[in-house]
Amino acid sequence: MSAKLKVVLTVKLPDSVETRMRELFNTTLWYTLSQMPRDQLFAAAKTADVLVTSINDRLDAEFFSECGEQLKMIANFGVGYDHIDVVTGTEKGMIITNTPGVLTEDTAEMTMGLIMAVSRRFVEGAEIVQRGEFSAWSPTFLLGRRIFGKRLGIVGMGRIGQALARRARAFGMSVHYHNRKPVSARISDDLQATYWDDLDQMLSRVDVVSINAPGGPGTHHLLSAERLAKLQPHAILVNTARGQIVDEQALAAMLREKRIAGVGLDVYEREPAINPELIGLPNAILLPHMASSTVEARTDMGDRVILNVKTFQDGHRPPDRVIPAML
Ligand code: 8YV
Repeated sequence: MSAKLKVVLTVKLPDSVETRMRELFNTTLWYTLSQMPRDQLFAAAKTADVLVTSINDRLDAEFFSECGEQLKMIANFGVGYDHIDVVTGTEKGMIITNTPGVLTEDTAEMTMGLIMAVSRRFVEGAEIVQRGEFSAWSPTFLLGRRIFGKRLGIVGMGRIGQALARRARAFGMSVHYHNRKPVSARISDDLQATYWDDLDQMLSRVDVVSINAPGGPGTHHLLSAERLAKLQPHAILVNTARGQIVDEQALAAMLREKRIAGVGLDVYEREPAINPELIGLPNAILLPHMASSTVEARTDMGDRVILNVKTFQDGHRPPDRVIPAML
């Protein structure tokens, strides 16, 4: 392929990434921070060779039935692709890529931060100071729970789960995990990790639960009301993966009834809508899907998008191709 591909962005990317894309491809940028409306997404899909998408775009069967014949590639800016109907897209001959590996450390950092923040009540403390209500130190004031020596149960031991496990080890936690299959002996030995094939068994025994599994039909409500009920009352749960993995309504009820000690959420079932039942609870730290929001990750994600599109433009197989067999 010698001609430059017509690449349309549905999302505002860092300036440096956009500039490089303009140099390499016939690129149309999306200038605002708001989501591209669906009718414009469909219109773009009728003229572009490549669409650069994000979690904000729903690329479902309707999208793939409507898109034009010339659309050959979806280069997703993000590692998760549960918003893309990969099976239908692939059947239509579409190349679909994501950006794995480059936001692993950032997401693990934020997850560890949330574990700390919930356990040690960072936000409640900070708000007391901001309101001018810090009047005197007292031995019984704002007591949290120690992290050191506690058991962390990781649901989904992929790249991010393992990066979290390394951090948790450094904080003196013991690592437990549930995954479709155990990690290699080398990784397991390194992390001194305990594998649970039965998620219910793990949930009832750990002090902290972190969700690090991919989204999609296979993990929808993996943490159902019934499973959540297995958690110990002193346990905390953090989710930096996908909101749909947890039954949010059941989680909110458990928090209100103090059947769980606290939660740290970065993702939600109906994002960006937040379940009103979660709002205003002192033991819930709620973040706006920012676990991978670092200058470094966003630039590296953009570089992966460029690499994938450029490789395709040059007539080769993009390195981060997502294929249905991976689902
Ligand atoms: C991104 C994410 O911020 O990459 C992902 O799958 O969930 C986030 O960390 C966002 O999705 C980019 O599209």
